[in-house]
Amino acid sequence: MFELLAYERFRDTPAVRFFDVTVDTSNARDLVIHSGPAVSPPNDAASGAWQFYLHPHQEDNLLAASGGRTFYLVNLAWDQPFHIVRLDSGGDILRIPPGTFHRSVSDPDGSVVLNQAVREEGVSLVQEFRVYNSARIPALLAVTSIQAPPPRLHGVEPLLQAA
Ligand SMILES: [Fe+2]
Repeated sequence: MFELLAYERFRDTPAVRFFDVTVDTSNARDLVIHSGPAVSPPNDAASGAWQFYLHPHQEDNLLAASGGRTFYLVNLAWDQPFHIVRLDSGGDILRIPPGTFHRSVSDPDGSVVLNQAVREEGVSLVQEFRVYNSARIPALLAVTSIQAPPPRLHGVEPLLQAA
């Protein structure tokens, strides 16, 4: 399963926020900046289908340093395979295990996310950052379709249905 990790907050005031966010096991750092309401990876241009990353050999440890971002997680080995997790600026670190499909959507003003990854030695970055189109993966499409059981929400308000 994914995890939400707390960390030490030395100072957390409206004017100054100062945290120790060290992930001891991390051996790679990625900084991902969305300057607007970006979707990563972007939806398939032709069909509009959701697309996902999946790292075979990398654990992600994601901290929103600025702005907010919502993560869609699918792992076909989990009892409940589909989760939507909200990351707010300065909130918990989201740990995504290898083998988990994931995509993210930034808030309208964008977001800055620090990933303290744990990457196996000698892996191919091309393979780790492959994009998977849900329209071409029947099991992934089935779990995320509107007919499937709804995702479990974590820090996300349920969408209001239009009347
Ligand atoms: Fe990732």
